[in-house]
Amino acid sequence: MAVSKILETRNTDIDAKDRRKIAGLLGGVLTSTYELLLTTQLVHWNVKGQIFFSVHKLTDEHYNELFKSLDIIAERMRALGSEVPVDGVNKEFALHAKVTGGDIPHMVEQLAVLHEKAAAHAREVAGESEKAEDIVTTDMLVDCMKFHEKAVWMLRAIIAK
Ligand SMILES: [Fe+2]
Repeated sequence: MAVSKILETRNTDIDAKDRRKIAGLLGGVLTSTYELLLTTQLVHWNVKGQIFFSVHKLTDEHYNELFKSLDIIAERMRALGSEVPVDGVNKEFALHAKVTGGDIPHMVEQLAVLHEKAAAHAREVAGESEKAEDIVTTDMLVDCMKFHEKAVWMLRAIIAK
């Protein structure tokens, strides 16, 4: 996601070039987190079958966590001096979010794969924030990774045979 050219002054000892780069990368994390949230809700609303309640309840917990993450990620972008794009986020995530299968194992596996991708994405961006010694962003992304990796475990455990 392209971040606005406007970068506010922050005398926090993180180079402006690094702040711009990291904020741009966080914009991408924001977009994919929205996509995962919406896909999680689509499963939450459409799941049916024998283990309906487990999946319905777990997805409820997950989309609430994802909603909290969105605010934390966007506010980190602001703290880095970047704006949060007002016209790109919704368009991008809405285009990609969809449930690709109707049965529970397929739906749950789709979510597990999205969480794996989100963990890998957060790890990649954390590599960049670490290089810039932006410990706060790295710490935030470590929390994201913890959440996604735990979600993968729980989702896969639900459909394990
Ligand atoms: Fe609900």
